[in-house]
Amino acid sequence: KEAKLWGGRFEEGVTDAVERFTESISFDKALYKQDIKGSRAHASMLAKQGLMSLSDRDSIIEGLNRIEEQIERGEFVWRTDREDVHMNIEATLTDLIGEPAKKLHTARSRNDQVSTDFRLWCRDGIDNIVSHVKQLQIALVRLAKKNVGVVVPGFTHLQSAEPVLLHHHLLAYVEQLELDARRLLDCRARLNFCPLGACALAGTGLPIDRFMTSDALGFTAPMRNSMDAVSDRDFILELLAGNAILALHLSWLGEEWGLWASEESGFSMEAVGGKSARVVGDLVTLQVLCKGLPLTYNRDLQEDKEPVFDSVKTIIGMLKMSADFAQNITYNHDKIQKALPSGHVDTGSLLDRDSILKGLDQIEKQIESGEFVWIQNEEPAKNLFTTRSQNGQLSTDFHVWCCDAIDTIFSHIKHLQVSMVKLAKKNTGVIVPGYTHLQ
Ligand code: ARG
Repeated sequence: KEAKLWGGRFEEGVTDAVERFTESISFDKALYKQDIKGSRAHASMLAKQGLMSLSDRDSIIEGLNRIEEQIERGEFVWRTDREDVHMNIEATLTDLIGEPAKKLHTARSRNDQVSTDFRLWCRDGIDNIVSHVKQLQIALVRLAKKNVGVVVPGFTHLQSAEPVLLHHHLLAYVEQLELDARRLLDCRARLNFCPLGACALAGTGLPIDRFMTSDALGFTAPMRNSMDAVSDRDFILELLAGNAILALHLSWLGEEWGLWASEESGFSMEAVGGKSARVVGDLVTLQVLCKGLPLTYNRDLQEDKEPVFDSVKTIIGMLKMSADFAQNITYNHDKIQKALPSGHVDTGSLLDRDSILKGLDQIEKQIESGEFVWIQNEEPAKNLFTTRSQNGQLSTDFHVWCCDAIDTIFSHIKHLQVSMVKLAKKNTGVIVPGYTHLQ
């Protein structure tokens, strides 16, 4: 067993119990692809900048390729004494190619490395979720097409209030899912900035090219502030919050399908409702984790991985299950009939089914091509309702109130930012300790 890679400052070796307690390799090995990709980009940049020889770069990239193959063939040995994915890969690279491997960590720390890897992972995670959302939307529209003209009870206050067309009801979910997907895509755009070059927390004096690594990894640009780059997990909070909202929508859908599905539709959607609790829990875990942390990187942040892995995996499972259900559900017309408000007149026969079907076809195509967007107004809520009931009115009023509240909060944030900059101006040249791991 080799000496702990960072154990230099300890008198005795770290005990096995501590090692087991503090390792993250058992779960963060899921980041191996991103870690290797990041290292390839970093090595290429170092070589281009003259900070590493071309032959060292080539043997590093060669070695990384071999490691990737080993991992994918299940032949790589993950070692707990090498703590995490970054050190496992780097130490194995040293075993494979020797000296040149040690130069890979030039102008880099695990602090900027882990933030980079995780951003790349979340980017892929979001793309995956969004494509499953799309599949569910399509399944819902197809279900609506199969049931044109079916009238179901429309509920409010848990009371069957007005008969509505089933497609109208299903399209409400299609709409919610659209916003869910766009919320995640907004998060994707915001997280897509590159932390590399931030190093431990204060950057490096070496002449690196941050734009080169950023470009190579498909980021929009390097992050602006190195201390922010290694500390903040706001991108994870956003992703988890987006998933939590999506999970809640799916739990409604699951609940309702239970009401009208016929027995033959098979298994229950109840599990989807239950899983939504996990996804909400994952968000809460991260919120608690991030509360009151000082700048910059703190080891607490190592706990950020499992909730994200769990949330993304669970939400994809929920989306798949829901799409599957939408493809197989048949409605129990007796149950529906009994639930309809009494005295309703069946107007189904008066419908122009062809034009409804045509509309649904169009929506399906728009979802497929990514054109299912609405006109964006500054205050969309004001134009939402042409006729109104108290329900619609309440929702409109609250939308507008929230728009105003956001403006107010925004202006306070700006004020705080300006105050911070003024404080910085008053203290130009003052040097303070930069913390990482509370040191
Ligand atoms: N395993 C750590 C994590 O997941 C990696 C970053 C640790 N950085 C360091 N300098 N020890 O957060």
